[in-house]
Amino acid sequence: MSDKKIALVTGANKGIGYEIAAGLGALGWSVGVGARDQARRDAAVARLRDAGVDAFGVPLDVTDDGSVAAAADLIAERAGRLDSLVNNAGITGGWAQQPTSADLTVIRTVVETNVIGVIRVTNAMLPLLRRSAAPRIVNMSSGVGSLTRQSGPDGATTTGPVAVAYAPSKSFLNAVTLQYVRELADTNILINCACPGFVATDLNGFRGVRTPQQGAATAIRLATLPDGGPTGGFFEDAGVVPW
Ligand SMILES: NC(=O)c1ccc[n+]([C@@H]2O[C@H](COP(=O)([O-])OP(=O)(O)OC[C@H]3O[C@@H](n4cnc5c(N)ncnc54)[C@H](OP(=O)(O)O)[C@@H]3O)[C@@H](O)[C@H]2O)c1
Repeated sequence: MSDKKIALVTGANKGIGYEIAAGLGALGWSVGVGARDQARRDAAVARLRDAGVDAFGVPLDVTDDGSVAAAADLIAERAGRLDSLVNNAGITGGWAQQPTSADLTVIRTVVETNVIGVIRVTNAMLPLLRRSAAPRIVNMSSGVGSLTRQSGPDGATTTGPVAVAYAPSKSFLNAVTLQYVRELADTNILINCACPGFVATDLNGFRGVRTPQQGAATAIRLATLPDGGPTGGFFEDAGVVPW
């Protein structure tokens, strides 16, 4: 087994996930580029390698049991362990998402990806994480999943549009994260949620105001926490995000 740290970033072919992979690679990590589309995955891996990153492609659709199991096998064969899992892949389900006219299929699809996908991937990777001396899990959440921000007096200006699928999927993810923290409390796995801020990516038609690189910073910090670092938290660049 190599001493080099190994990470898996889901949804790493573009946007924030790509920059998380690039950032971890710049720190000397070997990075699995989890992506469901072969052409997009290969292109991202090639770009990262050109930039000097020790990147390798991991075919991965977070909604597919077989794909996720095969991804765990690939990492087991290649590295024998996993030091950091960054559950970054996510979808919005499109806009608009008014609750009173909700498309239930959209809600199910968003939850399947943003929540159940994270559980599926985490459980498949857990045996590999347990083999790490310093395992970390980062779940890419969003400030729109903060119930405090959704219900605050200035919520309208801080929490994005009304979105009955996307925003609650991130609240659900936050709640799920805390259940992992509780069950795994007697392990050395540090598990946290990250908010990247409002980042210009495909996800929002590039309307965000931050760069993907800026959006990646908190997740990179949480993926590389030193021993004794926080667990069970929700963080953005400015500090703690209220649940
Ligand atoms: N952008 C923001 O302002 C913002 C704010 C808060 C939180 N976030 C969160 O940050 C994360 C990354 O978003 P982004 O802004 O970088 O969006 P993005 O550019 O649209 O990237 C999303 C990534 O997730 C992948 N993905 C989607 N469904 C997948 C599936 N079933 N299996 C595997 N991969 C899948 C996409 O792959 P394909 O290319 O194959 O579709 C893509 O690589 C998401 O969890 C998002 O909710 C973003």
